[in-house]
Amino acid sequence: MNTPAQSDRVLIFDTTLRDGEQSPGATLNVDEKLAIARQLARLGVDVIEAGFPFASPGDFEAVQKIADQVGTPDGPTICGLARATKHDIEAAGKAIQPAAKGRIHTFIATSDIHLEYKLRKTRQEVLEIAPEMVAYAKTFTNDVEFSPEDAGRSDPEFLYEMLERAIAAGATTVNIPDTVGYLTPSEFGTLIKGIKDNVPNINQAIISVHGHNDLGLAVANFLEAVKNGARQLECTINGIGERAGNAALEELVMAMHVRRSFYNPYLGRPVESEEPLTNIDTRQLYKTSRLVSNLTGMLVQPNKAIVGANAFAHESGIHQDGVLKHKLTYEIMDAQSIGLTDNQIVLGKHSGRNAFRTRLKELGHEMADQELNRAFLRFKDLADKKKDVTDWDLEAIVNDEAQQVPDLFRLEHLQVSCGDHARPTATVTLRTPDGEELTDAAIGTGPVDAVYKAINRVVDIPNQLIEFSVQSVTVGIDAIGEVTIRLKHEDLLFAGHGANTDIIVASAQAYMNALNRLYASLQNGRSLHPQHDEVASAVK
Ligand code: KIV
Ligand code: ZN
Repeated sequence: MNTPAQSDRVLIFDTTLRDGEQSPGATLNVDEKLAIARQLARLGVDVIEAGFPFASPGDFEAVQKIADQVGTPDGPTICGLARATKHDIEAAGKAIQPAAKGRIHTFIATSDIHLEYKLRKTRQEVLEIAPEMVAYAKTFTNDVEFSPEDAGRSDPEFLYEMLERAIAAGATTVNIPDTVGYLTPSEFGTLIKGIKDNVPNINQAIISVHGHNDLGLAVANFLEAVKNGARQLECTINGIGERAGNAALEELVMAMHVRRSFYNPYLGRPVESEEPLTNIDTRQLYKTSRLVSNLTGMLVQPNKAIVGANAFAHESGIHQDGVLKHKLTYEIMDAQSIGLTDNQIVLGKHSGRNAFRTRLKELGHEMADQELNRAFLRFKDLADKKKDVTDWDLEAIVNDEAQQVPDLFRLEHLQVSCGDHARPTATVTLRTPDGEELTDAAIGTGPVDAVYKAINRVVDIPNQLIEFSVQSVTVGIDAIGEVTIRLKHEDLLFAGHGANTDIIVASAQAYMNALNRLYASLQNGRSLHPQHDEVASAVK
């Protein structure tokens, strides 16, 4: 039997809901996290890091609900992050408890710079804390992952000793983070090789890697780590995450899929083996990317590898000519392999609830009756305006429904007048959290400005609009427009998203969505940051 370290599969550990959610403005509520977790399970990730349970009651609830509803026996392992302290570990242990397979991921920094300025601890002190906390985590679950934070800038000899102790205390996965995205691919590969060669009990644990993209090297670093023995990759959808983000899941998976003959020998397989290197269903990648982008408000750049709008578009004449003669001239992978279908027309005005439900099911969306009813009404409304409804339109409706920001303030009516000789004027009627209906109007520089000003007259929370983008879901003049915005309140960012065939309505919905997130956060208070709050308390 293979030891964990010799496994011939690469495990995918998704941290979109933890490290990804640490991106400024990407805050998700519990139901949105659940919607993403369900999609990650369909995608086939091995582990979902669902959050940092000690951070706030909301984070705890999210991890617990995901553990309960997504952590089924044939589903992914559900993981909770914990600093190497008893209260963090206890919170993580309780939150993952409903999962059939639950993991605690505990970490402590090991680089001298973090020890001196952040933790204010000696090497000896953390050498003692780590195994003690791993052993404590083992009292909640057998599956314990340990990370020496900032491993990339830690003294390798000290790191080996730390890992040996963590494994001896029961860590089943040791994760090597390049916390600040500093290493180059060959350095990262050498670090992993050094760990394999110098940690005596390394065969009792899986080697995992975690890395940030500050120099744009995270994916390259991980692929080098795989060549040197890493068998778990910690990554996020669309590469979102702290600062420049994490390694992008879709890029890693497709690199190992398209170039499997290159990677096969490193995993002890014959070069020509067609066995997938990961458990990921690549046809779910595009859909997952869109869901995460819509719910977090983090747009995907058009030239982003794999999931960007241009990734499979052949604009230049010479390329089009080549592709028409033979696809392989300019395409190394098929758009369908990531789930980009031919945008088929699937439903129309006369399609009934059953056809709607069936198509959604085929697309992988099982909805409760109430949710389905709401989505069906939106579909009918759309089919009245737009003759042919495609899969992408359906996805846009479902994604929009997945946004579970409570309608604290609710848009009841919107009326706009504008034109080249008119002063853009908007009248809005909103329902407040107390159930009161309020109407107000404003003049703006354009229709969206007028709408936002009118809304601001009712919802009096100071904020600054810092990002506004409109994208069409499909081609054609009657396409659904998706509006994504971000607004700033003090030093916090909030995203909002809306989808409608009328982009002024979509803009209003996106603004209400962001305002509701902002309002909810003012009510709930702020979450702890797992990596920065130690700094704050150390500095105090
Ligand atoms: O970047 C990092 O070091 C982390 C750890 C908590 C694993 O996110
Ligand atoms: Zn990280």
